[in-house]
Amino acid sequence: MPTYDVERLRRDYPILERQVYGKPLIYLDNTATSQTPRQVVEAVENMYYAHKANVHRGVFSLSQEATAMQEATREKVRDYINAASTSEIIFTRGTTEGINLVASSFGSFFENGDEIILTAMEHHADIVPWQLLGMRKRINIRVVPVHKDGTLDLDAYRSLFNERTRLVAFTHVSNVLGTVNPVKEMTAYAHSLDVPVLCDGAQAAPHMAIDVADLDVDFYAFSSHKMYGPAGVGVLYGKESFLEKMPPYQGGGEMISHVSFKKTTFADLPFKFEAGTPDFVDIAAFSACIDYIRSVGIDAIAAHEHELLEWTTAEMMKIPGMRIFGTAPGKCAVISFLMGDAHHYDTGMLLDKLGIAVRTGHHCAQPLMETLGIEGTVRASFALYNTRAEAEAFIAALHRIAPLLGIE
Ligand code: ALA
Repeated sequence: MPTYDVERLRRDYPILERQVYGKPLIYLDNTATSQTPRQVVEAVENMYYAHKANVHRGVFSLSQEATAMQEATREKVRDYINAASTSEIIFTRGTTEGINLVASSFGSFFENGDEIILTAMEHHADIVPWQLLGMRKRINIRVVPVHKDGTLDLDAYRSLFNERTRLVAFTHVSNVLGTVNPVKEMTAYAHSLDVPVLCDGAQAAPHMAIDVADLDVDFYAFSSHKMYGPAGVGVLYGKESFLEKMPPYQGGGEMISHVSFKKTTFADLPFKFEAGTPDFVDIAAFSACIDYIRSVGIDAIAAHEHELLEWTTAEMMKIPGMRIFGTAPGKCAVISFLMGDAHHYDTGMLLDKLGIAVRTGHHCAQPLMETLGIEGTVRASFALYNTRAEAEAFIAALHRIAPLLGIE
């Protein structure tokens, strides 16, 4: 099993030396955003201190440098996810914008009565953009149910297709349940019926190798800030054959070929979809983030997180009244739970007092909460820098707060 020295890597993250309420910070909200190593922060600093100039707009050296750095990141991302061409790599603000782009642009081809298939475990970012499209035309949304263990009902999935199905959009990894969906198998089925596929990769990209050629998805969206990178940058991968035909998502500078009041023509891919000044500072730094993940090794990261998940889950199950939501085999290191009848906010606030950061609430997945018959959960999620000692402190904290929540 690949491994690394977690204590050495932790030194890359000054924030992990912080205290909260006089206790060492134990950061377990990595599913919402992960912490950023020094190497990536230094790459941001380097851009501000030495290379800041607008991209694709200047003949002067600084602008040429900044442009080269942005485009080098594009090539690095292309290589990292095994896309065929940099024309297929569009920089966005994040996963949410990537999905909105597809809903708005690709969705413009849909007609009244057309259907799309989503799943019951989608984040709001893969529900609401389709509902917004539904305000412009009559789109039927069909929903794949989730089994009790957090896996998708694949028989139901296959039964939802019909001659009006125009797209399937589903998450690679659930941000609540940790379930890793069988993207390749689901995509192959959709393609056998000529239906394209969008995959929300926000929760997968930080934890596993992404190979868009192998998955064969038509669109794949993910965010830098969950991959130890800067906030404000995301990537939308799209197959060139689709992107070529799709209209621009937003209008503005640098997405044009020529503008006149009579007629405007658009730039080639990928720039057609990148209106306005991009977040070129953070895009350049995202390159350092891919280098960082590669240097640690994504398989080693996955193995480390999996070990923490297994140990912590087993220990949690020893606590009376503990309910864990999502027990799919091979799940990612996300543990959503409730302690007895305690409200998730109370649990989260008590853990915070002990220095432990977890997320509480519906996790932007209210339809899933409805399916589970709950309002929200407490969610602990691991990243490459979490340690067994932190997991032990988390378990000790749960035992400590249990009586305060009326348990034990
Ligand atoms: N989508 C992120 C989460 O699940 C913000 O917390």
